[in-house]
This record gives sequence, structure tokens and C-alpha cells, in this order.
Amino acid sequence: MELSGKTAFITGGGGGIGAGIGAALVERGMRVILADLDLSRAQKEARALGDAASALCLDVTSQVGWTEARLAVETSHGPIDVLCNNAGIATPPLLLDETPPALFAKVMAVNVTGVFNGICAFAPRMKARRAGHIVNTASLNGLLAHGTFGAYSASKFAVTGMSDALRQELAPFGVGVSTLYPGLTRSYMSLSEETAKLMADMPEEQRRAQMMDPLWLGRAVARAIETNAEHIITHPAAKPEVARRQAALLAAFGEPAQPGY
Ligand SMILES: NC(=O)c1ccc[n+]([C@@H]2O[C@H](COP(=O)([O-])OP(=O)(O)OC[C@H]3O[C@@H](n4cnc5c(N)ncnc54)[C@H](O)[C@@H]3O)[C@@H](O)[C@H]2O)c1
Repeated sequence: MELSGKTAFITGGGGGIGAGIGAALVERGMRVILADLDLSRAQKEARALGDAASALCLDVTSQVGWTEARLAVETSHGPIDVLCNNAGIATPPLLLDETPPALFAKVMAVNVTGVFNGICAFAPRMKARRAGHIVNTASLNGLLAHGTFGAYSASKFAVTGMSDALRQELAPFGVGVSTLYPGLTRSYMSLSEETAKLMADMPEEQRRAQMMDPLWLGRAVARAIETNAEHIITHPAAKPEVARRQAALLAAFGEPAQPGY
């Protein structure tokens, strides 16, 4: 898709990666709406981007909120060309069987149902116009699960699954879908106490140094929308680990469990 002159709606747009995507799309001549539960964060990022950006308050877990947001932006901006389902929350390091059920439910509500709600709000309009692109932010945790991060990993594997299915469903309508799998990137989330606990063995300075600048993730997203790339991998260092998991999976494909099946 040609980006210039088009409009993008980005959830979690007040946060690190959402704002980085917004900045990169504005660089490419797009108008962006930064939607966030924390309106003041979104407004701050929108101000920094100038006239091409605006801010909106949205809780991605609320279907009513999505309907209101869609009606508001269609009135102010016309049809939305690009939807980035990017809002997400992390969990502190916890064993799965010690994860409070309410926390598990919250992670699923924001990271999974939030993406589902965004798809339901905008995909029908894109199908009707036979144009558009949806980018869903998963994580390397959506390809590789990590112990003590089970709830978050489960939510991100769900995003990967939804994205793959959605890409098949929207292709006949000329609507593209890409999945973003970030690794450690500078943001409120990665600078939180939770992430610090996870990486307790790494000195603070080294941890910060390892964090990618979200603008570069945004630029990778812009290229993916242009070319309708299926997967957006920004942190290639994870490749050997992903390959090991894939190899183990492929090695398990032997004879059918039922002889002669
Ligand atoms: N930063 C990383 O290292 C990293 C790595 C892999 C994946 N991710 C994913 O990237 C996405 C963006 O995260 P980030 O790192 O920029 O974090 P961030 O905390 O900087 O930004 C997330 C934003 O989402 C908003 N948000 C939270 N709940 C919301 C809700 N219910 N409705 C609307 N907005 C809500 C927050 O207010 C925040 O501004 C998330 O999906 C996250 O899981 C981040």
C-alpha cells in the first residue's frame, strides 16, 4: 500500500512502540491517530508529531469504546486505511500456577480481546472498501514462551494465531495483515519494575543499552505495510532460539499415532 496521504489508527499510541510507529508513519506522509487508555501520554506524543497527529482516549477492552472511537475518527478523518493493534500490558515474573486469576484475565482482556475488538471494529469497513492494512503487535514471546512469563506468552501466542488467521481471511478482499514481533524495545513497559525484575542479572546500563529505539520498529512497520509483509522481525538475535523450537516441532512429525491413518 502507498502510505502517503493515508490515515492510521494506532492503539497504545501514547506508549513507546505505538509512538514509534506513529512517528515513522508521519515521516512517510501519513496522518495518525494515537489512541491510548492514558490520554495524556497520547496527547504528549501527538503534540511532538505536529498537525499530522491527534490523540484519542480508548480502552481497547471496551467494544462500546471501539464503536465510539471508530465513529469519531471516521467523522474527523474519513475512512481508516491502517489499523495498528499495538496496546498491550506485561506481567511481573510469576509462575503460572501462582498467577492471580484476575491478573491472567486482565492480560487476556487487553492483549487478546483488545486486538480482537480492533479487528471487529475496522476489518468490516476495510473489506467493504477492498483496501486497508492491519498490523498486530505480538512479541518474540508470541514465538517463544518463557517460564515466569506464561500469561504474557500465552496472550502473545494468541495474537500470532489471530493474525495468521486474519491474513488468510482478508487476503481475498485485498486487505493486508502483518504481525510485529518486537524484542526488547525502549518503552514504559520495558523500563518498568516488572522488566527490571525479569532481567535482574543484567546491570541497568546494559539493559537500557540493549533496548531498541521504537522509531526503528516503526520504520520496519512502515515497510511491511508497503509490501504487505506477513512477519516483522526487528530483533534477529532471537533466530537461533526460534530455529531450535521449530526443529524440535518438526522432529516430532513422525508416523501417525494410529497405524495406517
Ligand atoms: N517494549 C518491549 O520490549 C516489547 C517487546 C515485545 C512486545 N512488546 C509489545 O509492544 C506493545 C507496545 O508496548 P510498549 O513496549 O510500547 O509498552 P508501553 O507501556 O510503552 O505502551 C503501551 C501503551 O498501551 C497503553 N494501554 C495499556 N492498556 C490499554 C488499554 N486497555 N487500552 C488502550 N491502551 C492501553 C498504555 O497506556 C501504554 O501507553 C505491547 O503489545 C507489548 O506487549 C513490547
